[in-house]
Amino acid sequence: MKILVTGGAGYIGSHTAVELINAGHEVVIVDNFSNSKPEAVRRVEKITNAEIRLYEADLRDRTALEQIFADNLFDCCIHFAGMKAVGESVSKPWEYYDNNIGGTMVLLDVMRKNGCKNIIFSSSATVYGSPAEIPITENCPKGKCTNPYGRTKSMLEEILTDLHTADVKNGDKNPWNIVLLRYFNPVGAHKSGLIGEDPKGIPNNLMPFITQVAAGKLGFLTIFGNDYDTHDGTGVRDYIHVVDLAKGHLKALSAIEKKCGVVIYNLGTGRGYSVLDIVRAFEEANGLKIPYKIGPRRPGDIAVCYSSPEKAGKELGWAAENGIVEMCRDSWNWQKNNPNGY
Ligand code: NAD
Ligand code: UFG
Repeated sequence: MKILVTGGAGYIGSHTAVELINAGHEVVIVDNFSNSKPEAVRRVEKITNAEIRLYEADLRDRTALEQIFADNLFDCCIHFAGMKAVGESVSKPWEYYDNNIGGTMVLLDVMRKNGCKNIIFSSSATVYGSPAEIPITENCPKGKCTNPYGRTKSMLEEILTDLHTADVKNGDKNPWNIVLLRYFNPVGAHKSGLIGEDPKGIPNNLMPFITQVAAGKLGFLTIFGNDYDTHDGTGVRDYIHVVDLAKGHLKALSAIEKKCGVVIYNLGTGRGYSVLDIVRAFEEANGLKIPYKIGPRRPGDIAVCYSSPEKAGKELGWAAENGIVEMCRDSWNWQKNNPNGY
């Protein structure tokens, strides 16, 4: 298939581009580099030995997007582009709604006008809010999101679903096919050590913070609370290797090919690890010490969040293959080889 990958220079997009190309798909990337660098795409080319058509453009730039669709006939779009920092979204809600919702609205309009109505969308476990059941299945009702970032994901899921529903009601012969992928906590990096997560400034997320402590760039990790109702009091999450997550998108393409309508899949491992479990696993996997201190809870955090990945297993034949040791090893391998990112 010929696939438009929005945000393809970013963390998950670049890893997905590798898997798509390795599986024989043609990838075109559009990115505004607001949170990435063109070097990431060059590295993808190096890993895959392929040339990638790369457009530097903002999704809100309709003229640029129309040009991209005039140049290419796409079978599907995998839509990663967006802003993703939970804390920042609280202080800059307008920017988040404008970029995530505004960008997607322009993309969807240009797609439909060009007859491409197949999309795989990066959603998030955050749409479950404080989950009503653990492990979280796709049937778990969506919860109240505590921040604008989460609300953009939840709203976009609904906007996309409405497009498909309207097509069906209107008897459209070419209705939208939409796969909503709810990611849990992606970590790790490609085995080559050539691509990985490259956060700007001090990382918000646990694994890049740990790797920067390991590298001596940060003095110690602050663990946000040890008084949660979990086995050791620290927060529990479902960490998933980014390459496994990337492979989930390949499987989602098969759903698109089967004209799936709207389908939702969790992409997680189904296993929950606490913050202290991760610190210990990282130390053991890499033979390093991670100094840490216990701090107060981070506002908006929940105690436990992990998936049931059963639906993706049954319907897509997808399951995560890498365990916590590979996640910790590959995260460190990337950081060690690229101390200053790209
Ligand atoms: P990322 O920031 O590394 O990648 C996003 C890419 O989109 C960046 O390269 C950025 O420059 C680009 N971009 C942003 N706005 C754009 C715009 N208006 N026009 C063009 N390009 C634009 O983030 P990521 O971790 O790879 O996440 C990819 C997607 O997955 C995002 O939608 C994110 O919300 C979602 N997601 C991420 C996580 C996570 O923990 N990383 C979890 C759940 C969902
Ligand atoms: N944590 C610390 N110290 C840190 C950073 C994190 O103790 O310096 C803890 C958090 O309190 C939490 C766990 O580590 O218990 C994981 O935190 P992250 O910030 O890495 O991830 P979150 O689960 O908070 O959120 C991430 C993404 C969201 C996404 C969500 C679900 O940031 O965008 O996963 O996919 F929605």
